[in-house]
This record gives sequence, structure tokens and C-alpha cells, in this order.
Amino acid sequence: MNRLADKIAIVTGAGRIGNIGVAVCDAFLREGARGVVGTDLRSEDAGAIRARMESSHGTGRFLLLEHDVTDEAAWQGVLEQTLAAFGALDVLVNNAGLSIHGGIETTSLADLRAVMAVNHDALFLGIKTCVGALAGAHTRHAGGGAIVNNLSMASYMSNANNIGYHVSKAAGRMLTLCAANELGPRRIRVNSIHPGVTMTPLIREGLRDYVQGGLWPSEEAAEQALAAMSWLKTTSQPEDTAHAFVYLASEEARFVTGASIQHDGGIGGVY
Ligand SMILES: NC(=O)c1ccc[n+]([C@@H]2O[C@H](COP(=O)([O-])OP(=O)(O)OC[C@H]3O[C@@H](n4cnc5c(N)ncnc54)[C@H](O)[C@@H]3O)[C@@H](O)[C@H]2O)c1
Repeated sequence: MNRLADKIAIVTGAGRIGNIGVAVCDAFLREGARGVVGTDLRSEDAGAIRARMESSHGTGRFLLLEHDVTDEAAWQGVLEQTLAAFGALDVLVNNAGLSIHGGIETTSLADLRAVMAVNHDALFLGIKTCVGALAGAHTRHAGGGAIVNNLSMASYMSNANNIGYHVSKAAGRMLTLCAANELGPRRIRVNSIHPGVTMTPLIREGLRDYVQGGLWPSEEAAEQALAAMSWLKTTSQPEDTAHAFVYLASEEARFVTGASIQHDGGIGGVY
């Protein structure tokens, strides 16, 4: 409790029930964050997510904004609304993500650019927009400002059928390092988390596609096959993955920057 006492955070990709972004917002509020601003392109789950946060954490601590992370002007709007509501910003979580399957010959340039825009360019826009506000965080917290980029083990592993996702997540890792290097003197820490298989609606949809394509006989068999790939022989739940975000956002990680946390049960253990 209270590992994020008095902190104010923006978390992108937090508009879908059962996903990592919602779990991170929930965990931040549980750990005493004063304000959390979730954002997402989609809005169909917004009412239910707001109701859940209010019933668990009381009123006035959570905002959910419609936001396209690839739109620079929209980022400015999110920052302004955050400062208007809570007066400061301490933590930026770049979590929104997009995957469009395909290899070199089967991926259009438009699809490649769409994936790069969400998984890489948007991280750049978010950091660029929020850096001024985050630089003030050290006046309130010894650990200063924190940026946490949700990448993937795809940053490190190749895939013959998902080029845009893997290339964009690898680029996100280098962006994390460059930003950590540049922003360290301003007391802003920049780190990345690399989840393995986390059972969100996105993953379940993917499994359904594989079952329909005949790769596995059922969704249960598909999940078991993915679990078997990890050293711990299991998958993660969004609530477990959220713990890693709490750590990097907290004062406990005040000497940690440029780090890459593999939260993958060992699936990428070859690295
Ligand atoms: N679930 C996993 O196994 C897993 C593994 C590794 C990495 N990740 C990463 O974790 C993050 C969250 O994934 P998730 O599994 O919770 O899936 P998800 O699809 O539920 O979450 C991604 C969210 O990003 C939002 N989004 C997409 N494009 C956007 C845009 N242009 N502007 C604003 N929001 C946009 C989506 O609407 C969605 O709510 C992603 O970056 C994903 O690549 C997930």
C-alpha cells in the first residue's frame, strides 16, 4: 500500500476491460496514486471502467480520456487536462499497442507505418509532450519523474509473420535507452517492461484466430501450448504484469533507469 503515494500518472491503452492498461491504473490507485489519467482510442468500455475505478478507489482520482496516441495535438490536450485536474505529472506509462500480422511480402507499407506509429512514434510523442511536466517531479519526490514503456519480448525475438510488431517494439527499446540517457540529468527515469504472454482480450482474440485456422484444437490447448513455452510453464495475468509497472513508477526504483524488465516467465530466456 502507498508505494505511489501522492503520485500523478498518465497511462495509455487503458480503455479495454481486462487489458494491461486497466490493470496498471487499478494497481496505481491501490498503491496510493493521487491521480491517474487513463487514455484510449476506444470508448465502448469507458463507462464500466470508470464505475469500477470509482467503486474500488473512490471519486475524483481517476479520469478516462479518449485519445489517439499517434496525434501530437491530442497529447497536448491530455497533458493539459491532467495538469488541470491534478496540478502535476510524475509518471507516464506508454502502454497502448497495435499488432498487424504479416511478413515482408504480406505486410503493406501502410500497415507497417500504422504499427510503427502506435508502438514507436507515439512513445516519442508522449515523452516529448510530457517531459517538461515530468522534469518538475523531483521537487515532490526524490525519485523524480518516471517513464515506463510497455514493450514486449518481441523487442528481442524475431518473428517471420509479425514484422511490424517486432521491429516497432525493438525500436521502442532503443528509444527507451536514448531517452534515459538524455533525461537522466533532469531526474527523469526511463525504463521498459517486456511482457511475455499475458492473458488479455487481445491475446484471447489471437488464440481464437489460431484455433479457427486449425493450428490448435481449442483455445485451452492454445493457452497451454503458450504456457509450455515459458520456463515457469504458465502465462501471466494483467494484474501480475501491473506489479512491474508499480515498481518502476515507485521510489523503490529511484536508481533504476534504462533498464529492461523481462516479465515473461522465462519465455525469452535465451537472452
Ligand atoms: N498481452 C500480451 O501478452 C502482451 C505481451 C507483450 C506486450 N504486450 C503489450 O502490452 C500493451 C497492452 O496490450 P494488451 O495485451 O493489454 O492489449 P489491448 O489490445 O487490450 O491493449 C492495447 C490498447 O491500446 C489501445 N490503442 C491501440 N491503438 C491506439 C491508439 N492509436 N491510440 C490510443 N490507444 C490505442 C487499444 O484500444 C487497446 O485498448 C501493448 O503495447 C502490447 O503490445 C502485451
